[in-house]
Amino acid sequence: MNILVINGPNLNLLGRREPEIYGRGSYEDLCAFLQDYAKERHCGLEILQTNHEGTIIDWLQDRSESVDAFILNPGAFTHYSYAIRDAIKAVPRPVVEVHLSDLSQREPFRRVSVLKDVCAHQIMGKGFQSYSEAIDWLMKGQ
Ligand code: DQA
Repeated sequence: MNILVINGPNLNLLGRREPEIYGRGSYEDLCAFLQDYAKERHCGLEILQTNHEGTIIDWLQDRSESVDAFILNPGAFTHYSYAIRDAIKAVPRPVVEVHLSDLSQREPFRRVSVLKDVCAHQIMGKGFQSYSEAIDWLMKGQ
């Protein structure tokens, strides 16, 4: 299985940005953890990050032929991007929505995901493990 992980805005600042919420591990730590995790399971994994909404949409559209599934942390776009929602609906591949923090315990605007019901699955509140659980979920055939 080949999975593309897409990280949205500000996730490149992991470790430096609100560590009490997102943890002390850096973005590089996250990537290394996930690459090791995937390798042990013989899963192909590529990890990308962008601060731009349209780039996320381009990657979903352009890479849907070359990967089996997506893991997406849309950052704050989670809460209002109908454009990303439409893109997820249009791609013929499962998209798992992940979050480091538990959105249900945060500010009211974060408790709403406009993407959740078009994603194959949602995992949140487990730090880096939100992503590794998404790999497991996809690999066990959903
Ligand atoms: C986040 C939660 C979002 O509300 C926030 O805007 C982020 C990170 C998370 O991983 O917990 O950038 O997606």
